[in-house]
Amino acid sequence: MHTTAPALDRLLGDWSAGTGPAHRKLTERIRLLILDGRLSLGVTMPGERDLAATLGISRTTVATAYAALRETGYLTTHQRTRSTTTVPAAAHTGHHATDLLGAELIDFSYASPPAPGAALHQAYTWALEQLPRHLPRHGYAQIGLPELREAVATRYRARGLATTPEQILITTGAQHGLHLLVRTLLRPRARVVVDHPTYPHALHLLRTTAARITPVALTDTGWDLPALAAATSGAELAYLLPDFHNPTGMCLAPAERERIRLGCPAVVDETMAELALETDPPVPLAAHHRDVISVGSVSKTFWGGLRIGWIRADTGLIQRLAQARAGTDLGTPILEQLAATALLERIDTILPTRLEELRQGRAHLLSLLGEHFPDWTVAPGVGGLSVWAMMPDPISSTLAALAPQHGLRLAAGPRFGIGGAFERHLRIPYSLDTPALDAGIHALTATVDGAHSGHRATDTPKTSLA
Ligand SMILES: Cc1ncc(COP(=O)(O)O)c(C=O)c1O
Repeated sequence: MHTTAPALDRLLGDWSAGTGPAHRKLTERIRLLILDGRLSLGVTMPGERDLAATLGISRTTVATAYAALRETGYLTTHQRTRSTTTVPAAAHTGHHATDLLGAELIDFSYASPPAPGAALHQAYTWALEQLPRHLPRHGYAQIGLPELREAVATRYRARGLATTPEQILITTGAQHGLHLLVRTLLRPRARVVVDHPTYPHALHLLRTTAARITPVALTDTGWDLPALAAATSGAELAYLLPDFHNPTGMCLAPAERERIRLGCPAVVDETMAELALETDPPVPLAAHHRDVISVGSVSKTFWGGLRIGWIRADTGLIQRLAQARAGTDLGTPILEQLAATALLERIDTILPTRLEELRQGRAHLLSLLGEHFPDWTVAPGVGGLSVWAMMPDPISSTLAALAPQHGLRLAAGPRFGIGGAFERHLRIPYSLDTPALDAGIHALTATVDGAHSGHRATDTPKTSLA
């Protein structure tokens, strides 16, 4: 796999902003792209001359940056071949310098709540009791256990969307469902419309399938319906997050759900749909439009460690996806499916506590941000797990690179967009407890001060995020 100079140019975005020598800024930006996963490992880089011409800089600047990346283990070159991306051995271990010193990093790169411990324990106890019923059979649940498919369908009906269990395929998390859909539905180089910003792992998935991505910018108040109608006309698929949008927490209003016109089938990712904090729970978009495929998950409602998700579609597509699935995996673990069934059956008792904790976390985070960063614009959203903050300066990637030195892990704004957009943005989760939020904002304050006083990163930000 190789990347062209124009493609790298788009990923680099506004890399030359700020102070310091150009080769150092270029080095830092390429390093962050590799660590963030925006530049995959094993990718052949453009030649120095090509990249210099495309970026409008001297070849020496590119050569110096490439040399620095080679020295620090982010590029390798074998006898006269082009440089390819890699990561240094220490980064492979997943440990940071700070981790190795024994200090835990506060992790703002995940927007994922902890498990509801007691409820999860009870669900697994019940699941273990049920397991013997399944032991005489082979245990490969390619389409999902009937009881879980029924529990998911029941939940859709409660949310206002008539659904039968035959319309549900159980997956190993929503990300697995997205992968299965993309692999089954998209042709190479298909045009796919996405919200902008959007969920980074979906962008990553689309990039790896070489989809042509058309971003449609969200406005300050939500979705631009005429722009979506125009962009989806002639596209192969849209990937949308109407409830609740990651990272902004916005929700598509009920009247707009009816009004929205889409020119292509849409995959609606409802991973956050149960987390309605300041609004009524939305009726799924599929209740208004036939060409909508819904993807859901228990990861944010209950716990990411369960690895249970699903796809809701017409029965023909569900059968097709179940067959296609065998190419990569043969089913989702039975015990986790049983535990998820138990949790979904008790959702009405578990969810209110979860929502109350998130409301408190959100209020606390908003007050900390107001106190420490009065010049940031924070859009609080109405649900989900994070706020999307806009800073006065384009320093998001710099902050992500510097943050580990201050005990913090951040996801840089450009991970949520195309072509280096969102360098002034940060997604900040409120799914952590009060001490972690306090410590995280304290570390963020030190990181921002460091960025303003021109410190350089010496540590490696972690690459994962959810
Ligand atoms: C919008 C969105 N989709 C999908 C996922 C992945 O969900 P799962 O853990 O079920 O794979 C996440 C997790 O953060 C998410 O935020």
